[in-house]
Amino acid sequence: MTVRKAIFPAAGLGTRFLPVTKAQPKEMLPLVDKPTIQYGVEEAIASGIEQVIMVTGGGKRAIVDHFDRSVDLEHYLRERDRGDLLQILAEVDRLSEQVDITYIQQKAPRGLGDAVWTARRLVEGEPCAVLLADDVILCENNPVLKQLIDAHAKTGATVLAVRRVPRSQVSRYGIIATNGSHDGLHEVTDVVEKPSAEDAPSDLAALGRYVITPAVFDELSRGTPGAGKEIQLVDAIKRTIGRHHVVALEFEGDYYDTGTVPGYLRANLMLAMKREELRGELEPLLRELLQNRD
Ligand code: G1P
Repeated sequence: MTVRKAIFPAAGLGTRFLPVTKAQPKEMLPLVDKPTIQYGVEEAIASGIEQVIMVTGGGKRAIVDHFDRSVDLEHYLRERDRGDLLQILAEVDRLSEQVDITYIQQKAPRGLGDAVWTARRLVEGEPCAVLLADDVILCENNPVLKQLIDAHAKTGATVLAVRRVPRSQVSRYGIIATNGSHDGLHEVTDVVEKPSAEDAPSDLAALGRYVITPAVFDELSRGTPGAGKEIQLVDAIKRTIGRHHVVALEFEGDYYDTGTVPGYLRANLMLAMKREELRGELEPLLRELLQNRD
């Protein structure tokens, strides 16, 4: 079955970014000049997704407005002959023409697994993608979600995107255990949410992209809390292992963890340096800063 739908859990409170997230969703924080969540929506569209399901909570109105038309702003810009800026608005509007964006509310912050479970009736019986917009992954050719969808088409399995991380960082991620790989795919034998460095079964971390099968929803229906007393997506995936095939793909692409303040600043700097018009100004500034530090 093809993967047509992608769930975007976007109900988090963004506490790592307070105070800026007090009255604004963290998904709307800019990476250079585009909100973080837009990178994810663009990736989903480029991967052939037809419906994006945003699981939101209170205070997320700005996300809805961002993907909607702004007739007032268009009118204002048209009157002032600002075709250049209208063009930018048109690019955002085109996204919601290429994909249906549906919103559903998570009633309480009970964890990633619960957020995904909230979307169950909208994906009933279908394999679907899950995309964590904090994890921005940029690929020259084949978007990472498409790499996962292709792996699912080949195997029929639940697929996780993984990358090796330093042992000192394993406690931030879901970590897989594998008994070997073929065709570039690891056979997953276990997944542990946020293990300590000593207990981690490997250094292969799940980085925010999944294709999950209906069996994972069956497990989520139990609502069993895990690490941090939250309902974890990887716990539900783990419970399907043995009866259902689970694989992990070491993806290709540039990964930016925008979910922490240092990671977010790094992503902004690196993406700005890729833009020619900004690099000209930034490069001398960075040199000057480095020279003048004591
Ligand atoms: C979530 C998942 C974790 C995954 C991580 C990737 O954790 O629960 O398994 O490795 O995203 O960024 P969070 O970052 O929300 O704590």
